[in-house]
Formats: sequence, structure tokens, C-alpha cells
Amino acid sequence: MIYSDRLIEKLKNAEKVSVLTGAGVSAESGVPTFRDPGGIWEKFRPEQLANFEAFMKDPDFVWSWYQHRREIMREVKPNNGHFALAEMEKIFPSFSLITQNIDNLHYRAGSRNITELHGNIERNYCIKCRTFFHEIDIQEKKVLKCTNCGGLIRPDVVWFGEMLPVKELKYAENAAADSDVFFTIGTSAEVYPAALLPIIAKRAGAYSVEININPTVISFDLDETLTGKSAEILPELLNKIKEIRNN
Ligand code: OAD
Repeated sequence: MIYSDRLIEKLKNAEKVSVLTGAGVSAESGVPTFRDPGGIWEKFRPEQLANFEAFMKDPDFVWSWYQHRREIMREVKPNNGHFALAEMEKIFPSFSLITQNIDNLHYRAGSRNITELHGNIERNYCIKCRTFFHEIDIQEKKVLKCTNCGGLIRPDVVWFGEMLPVKELKYAENAAADSDVFFTIGTSAEVYPAALLPIIAKRAGAYSVEININPTVISFDLDETLTGKSAEILPELLNKIKEIRNN
């Protein structure tokens, strides 16, 4: 990993660190990303699966796809990138982990101050009465009905055309604007409004760092890019942070 002295200086003194993660942080756990070669959106059209109209048209089809993804996500394990981020939360006085991922791997790795912008696949709710269902039979391929009102149960994930959860987005925007250092990790930064967060942070004066295996559309807008796999770079960075902060 090649990093600048400036980054080390910033991390040595940083009080407030925020991180935006995307599918790339879970790639090495075996969760497919969306836009990389062989990614999810190469196999499926988002409008077939990830929107409310598709769900109403063929709820069983959409439900069974999410059940399949749930199976994958439960089988995989957090990787060293997830674990390093969980450790960083304990080091900096303020550490906000903002994620677009729905796979729950940050939580399973030990992170606690997590803001989920696109929901969480482990949660489900009734589209009629909004009752939440956490324990569902993962084998059930036909859409489940609400035990209170009979409404259809959907995964608590943000679909195309839907608003992001207001409280979470507000928190993320404030954290971005109030960071000393802001990391953008494993995201193509092509989906808004999440993709605006690194720009908000940079404009507000945060030292902005990207970690990705490839350049992205925002790379040139940021202060520094660390090129490589997050599961390798983050543990290295964590060791360096421990060294310079004597933690
Ligand atoms: P993408 O698939 O768009 O981008 C994944 C990014 O991770 C790319 O920039 C890759 O270069 C990078 N990457 C892949 N492997 C990596 C690794 N091992 N280490 C570091 N970087 C790696 O995924 P997202 O940006 O997360 O939304 O996609 C954003 C949103 O688009 C998702 O949350 C989802 C999708 O439609 C919803 O479902 C609402």
C-alpha cells in the first residue's frame, strides 16, 4: 500500500473519521458486486428485481431472489477489511460507518455505529401495516404474508425509485460534513445520493481518501487514492493507525 505522509499526519490527529462503504468491501467475502464484470447487474436488470412495481407484478419471483441472496449472505463471513473497520471505531473519538451494503457483514464484524443507507436484507416489513419481521423462514420461496393484516412482506431494502431513509441520510450528510478524514471504500460512487457524501466531505474540508481496486468517477475529486483490495489495505492501515496513535 502506498500512502502519503499527509494522510498519516491527518490520521494521527483526526478526531472525527467517517467511512462510506460499498459492495467492494464485501467482494473478498464472496458477495458479488453490482457493476464489476460478472456483477449482479450484468446478470439481471435492476428493474426486474429491485423495484416496487416488479415486486407487485411478481412478488414470489422477487421474494425468491432475495431469499437466495440472503442464503449467500448468511453463508459468507466478514473479511479482514470489515474487521479492521470495526477496530478503527474503537480508536477514533468519533467514527461513523456509512454503508450502502445490505449484507449485515459490518455488524457481524463488530462495527456498531453503522448507518445503513440502503437497508438491511435481514429485515422485512409488511407493505400494508409496516410491521417488521426479523425471523423469517429462509427456505420459503413464496412471498410471506403479514400475520397481522395479510399484507405482502418485503425486504427492508431500498429499491430503485425509492427514497433513502430520511434519518440515516441526514446522519450521513452531517457526518460527512463534519469529518476530519473521510474514506470512500469499495464503491463505484455511481448511485446517488450516497455518491454525494465524499464530495460533501471534501467541500467541507475533510481529507478525502478512496480505497478501491480501480479508479472511479470521483477519484480525481478526492485528495488521495489507495489502490488495492480493501481486505488487504484496511488491516495495513489499521496497523499504521495503531502505531501513530499509540493505541
Ligand atoms: P458497485 O458494484 O457499483 O461498485 C463496486 C466497487 O467496488 C467498484 O468500484 C469496484 O472497483 C470496487 N471493488 C471491487 N472489489 C473490490 C475490493 N476487493 N476492494 C476494494 N474495492 C473493490 O457497488 P456499489 O458502489 O456498492 O443499491 O453500488 C451502489 C449501489 O448500487 C448498491 O448499494 C445497490 C446498487 O444498485 C441498491 O440496491 C439500492
